[in-house]
Amino acid sequence: MPELLVSERIPVRIATDIVIARRAARELCERLGFGKADQTRLATAVSELARNVIQYAGEGVCLIEDRSDGVSRRIRVVVEDQGPGIADLGRALTDGFSTGGGLGAGLPGTRRLVDEFQIESAPGRTCVTIVMAKPF
Ligand SMILES: Nc1ncnc2c1ncn2[C@@H]1O[C@H](COP(=O)(O)OP(=O)(O)O)[C@@H](O)[C@H]1O
Ligand SMILES: [Mg+2]
Repeated sequence: MPELLVSERIPVRIATDIVIARRAARELCERLGFGKADQTRLATAVSELARNVIQYAGEGVCLIEDRSDGVSRRIRVVVEDQGPGIADLGRALTDGFSTGGGLGAGLPGTRRLVDEFQIESAPGRTCVTIVMAKPF
């Protein structure tokens, strides 16, 4: 039987896109059998990342994919933009650091919420990859 790859690409430009991305992440989480707490963790992480895209880069994209295999359920979300980049990643991942007058909890909080967190940033591109995983 052919594998059904679930993959969704959501443009992130305006505030309502945050809601769309957040909801899509939650729905896939639920469909794959993650519990409510996991659904909320992923949804919160996705909204923080999408919010950052709008606030600091203007626009970007959110890719949500089912990467499950025989061993575990796995959702991967990639949030990417072509904005100015983050000058000091170390500081940006520290609680309380914000260049936008925010709480500075988005990136460090997101990192704590998910099972895997990776960030790459340079002038012209920021890409955050997060994964929620759970053994079958
Ligand atoms: N996509 C992005 N592009 C450029 N800078 C970003 C991006 N996301 C986060 N940053 C930088 O990292 C800092 C920390 O982000 P975050 O932890 O979400 O806190 P806050 O949004 O409250 O400032 C931001 O203030 C900003 O300087
Ligand atoms: Mg933020």
